[in-house]
Amino acid sequence: MTPVLVLHGPNLNLLGQREPGIYGHQTLAELDARLRTWGLDLGLEVTSRQSNHEGQLIDWLHDAQAEGHAGIVLNPGGLAHGSWSLRDAVAAVALPVIEVHLSNVHAREPGRQVLVTAAACRGVITGLGLTSYRLGLAALADLLPTA
Ligand code: DQA
Repeated sequence: MTPVLVLHGPNLNLLGQREPGIYGHQTLAELDARLRTWGLDLGLEVTSRQSNHEGQLIDWLHDAQAEGHAGIVLNPGGLAHGSWSLRDAVAAVALPVIEVHLSNVHAREPGRQVLVTAAACRGVITGLGLTSYRLGLAALADLLPTA
């Protein structure tokens, strides 16, 4: 099993109650349980974390390699559209980072169509609900050497 990290950004702790028409009815706990199951099928041991704080996400990115993780799936939440600090942290990390979004950010407000962090990521998957995360893990599994 290859250890990988999934990071959920601000407001994703409210999944299930927050704008369910956009983000779905599943809770973060349900999503995290699915991530672990999908990971096992792909040979990945998934650790997931959520924070509403930009600096905490940056610290987790910095520490990911030293903690033994081989890659990262990142949903930066709204920080995707404006955080140059988070983008710089992604660029500083020598691990593949796949950015994912539940909603199709390209079909939403103009401000959400600006993706600041995405350019530093290896790839972006957006608009497929929970499937965005499953495909993010599958992309990591394809990119990583088999353990
Ligand atoms: C999101 C999209 C962002 O624009 C928004 O701020 C979020 C969730 C998504 O997963 O669709 O918090 O990243």
